[in-house]
Amino acid sequence: MTSHDPARPVGATISHVVVPGTFDPVTLGHIDVIRRARRLFPRVTVAVAASVNKNGRGTTFTLDERVQMIREAIALEGLPPDVEVAPFTGLLVNFCKEIGAGGVVKGLRAMTDFEYELQQADLNSHMAPDLESVFVMSSPQYGYVSSSIVREIAAMGSDVRILVPANVAERLSERYA
Ligand code: PNS
Repeated sequence: MTSHDPARPVGATISHVVVPGTFDPVTLGHIDVIRRARRLFPRVTVAVAASVNKNGRGTTFTLDERVQMIREAIALEGLPPDVEVAPFTGLLVNFCKEIGAGGVVKGLRAMTDFEYELQQADLNSHMAPDLESVFVMSSPQYGYVSSSIVREIAAMGSDVRILVPANVAERLSERYA
């Protein structure tokens, strides 16, 4: 792909991006990425994947629960209220096309994220050459935060309030009570 490729016209700007993920559940690390995506782009849609997680297992929270928790967290964490949240099934590139989003924003924590994210970005670029992938480096305080770590700590009955929004901490304590 070069800057001369007609799929990426010179001078065209992106006004709508997607922040995709499984969000099982949403963490403060995700919220940081969503906040920063909204600082960079005027329209942001958080796209919540319906499918099974990347280990091939089902999710802990249903799709509706994950969407609802993100909506509540956006309000609680003081993110702009125009950040949209939508579920999607199937390929991310098709969802982006459907809603007219020109880019995908994801957070990068460690090198281990890089390999996985590069593979996904390459694949998405192959399927949708005009869709741009944009990465923001995770803020240092959230570098170690992941949904799986949060679930593991919560399942052991420990406090996850420093890792997730308050509404999510409450749902987790109910789930693992
Ligand atoms: O939070 P995650 O698990 O890192 O999010 C991964 C996600 C949902 C963004 C990715 O698996 C995805 O885009 N799934 C939709 C199916 C798809 O488009 N697959 C091809 C790209 S890997």
